[in-house]
Amino acid sequence: MTAPTRPSPIPPDVHLTGPYTPVTAEVDVADLRIDGALPTDLDGSYVRNGPNPRFSPIGSFLYPIDGDGMLHRVVLSEGRARYTNRFVRTPMVRKEEEVGHAIWPGFATPWQPGADEVGPLLAGTMRQLPDVNVVRHGGTLLALAECDQPYRMGPQLETLGQETFGGQLPAGICAHPKTDPRTGEMIAFCYNLQPPFLTWTTIAPDGTGTPPRPVEGVERPSMIHDMAITERYVVLVVAPLYFDMEAASSGGSMLAWHPEAGTRIALVPRDGGPVRWCEDEAFWLWHTANAYEVKDPADPAVDVVVVDYAEWARPSPIAPGPAAGPRPARAVIDPAAGTVRREIVADLEVEFPRIDDRLLGRPQPVSAFALRTGRPMPHPTCWDALAWHDLRTGRVTRWEPVDLALGEPAFAPDPRSDAPDRGWWLTYATRFSTGESSLLVIPAADPGSGPVATVRMPVRVPLGLHGNWLPSG
Ligand SMILES: [Fe+2]
Repeated sequence: MTAPTRPSPIPPDVHLTGPYTPVTAEVDVADLRIDGALPTDLDGSYVRNGPNPRFSPIGSFLYPIDGDGMLHRVVLSEGRARYTNRFVRTPMVRKEEEVGHAIWPGFATPWQPGADEVGPLLAGTMRQLPDVNVVRHGGTLLALAECDQPYRMGPQLETLGQETFGGQLPAGICAHPKTDPRTGEMIAFCYNLQPPFLTWTTIAPDGTGTPPRPVEGVERPSMIHDMAITERYVVLVVAPLYFDMEAASSGGSMLAWHPEAGTRIALVPRDGGPVRWCEDEAFWLWHTANAYEVKDPADPAVDVVVVDYAEWARPSPIAPGPAAGPRPARAVIDPAAGTVRREIVADLEVEFPRIDDRLLGRPQPVSAFALRTGRPMPHPTCWDALAWHDLRTGRVTRWEPVDLALGEPAFAPDPRSDAPDRGWWLTYATRFSTGESSLLVIPAADPGSGPVATVRMPVRVPLGLHGNWLPSG
């Protein structure tokens, strides 16, 4: 696939302009200005990853997959705030920094540089994309890519190297592993272009990996972005977004949407039992909020698995087409019958669902989302509000600020309480009108009232993808 000439610069892309515009400066600034009062119980770091191409992309740029990773961290302690941002320095970023321009094209451009340009070790490689998520596990901060080895990041957010979990997981893990709050284990999947096309694994609380186990019953490689866990199951939603390497090698799309094939949900018993597959019509999800096991509300004699998520009709923007935006949804899966019952639970256009992660795998009272209100926006692909859906009452609470593009809300629990409404929702926000960014601290007990503290960022923080609160200690 190596060609004599480098792919060309890309035309302007909406996901590289306005609040998305990448930044190149790496800064470390203490004593940030704070409007309001930062809760003194907030002691830790909020760190978030997102696509931020080091140099202007060439060939193609496919949001949300493409881009180099950049971590944005705000350390909160004793009512004060400090900000640090750093690129995740893959070998591709380092090589491009040597020459001062992009060498590797976007994911959708089937071209790799040769040894004459990048040396023998990097010849024929694709750009690594650890730009999706950032988690801490076993005391190690990991920048996560879409099914690849994560990058270990140091205390100053310096890039330390790739993580194979003791050599057990050389193919890597997904970008959305789930840590079981009961056991401390991190559960992950990985899809592969060669058999076995889908595997899953458990990583011990100390970071020790176990060899991947195949998910039986997957006949071709599909892209899967997120997952969920329950007490007994790993939940994998396998939608018909297939990798087509033949088409890619002849200039076509690497990913093809085949709705006629339907979406299948795998309930993989964590104790190693046989996979239970449940079939449904085609739908897509980028993100789950949570999953759990309960008695079926419609028939208390039946044990079901409930999955809360943001439902798309198709995997936009990879497979664009006329469809309503994503809605908060629930799937009720009967493992014994192999059936799925789905419903849209609120008429809202939302994405980036999150919960209090201490409740992963158990029923959560509230799911939080980034919300699109439908008001005019300079960048219509942004999210301009936040919403909280109370699953006990059905009530939706919104916070609809003016002139802000908002990111995924992440929950920071109050260390003095286990109650799910004691804590704060954190997210970065950027003003459409000025480009100024801030970290918002919103009380979970009354989120509709908006932030109790707004931490002013010293530089713009581009809209990104996923982040997490990492308590101190
Ligand atoms: Fe994601």
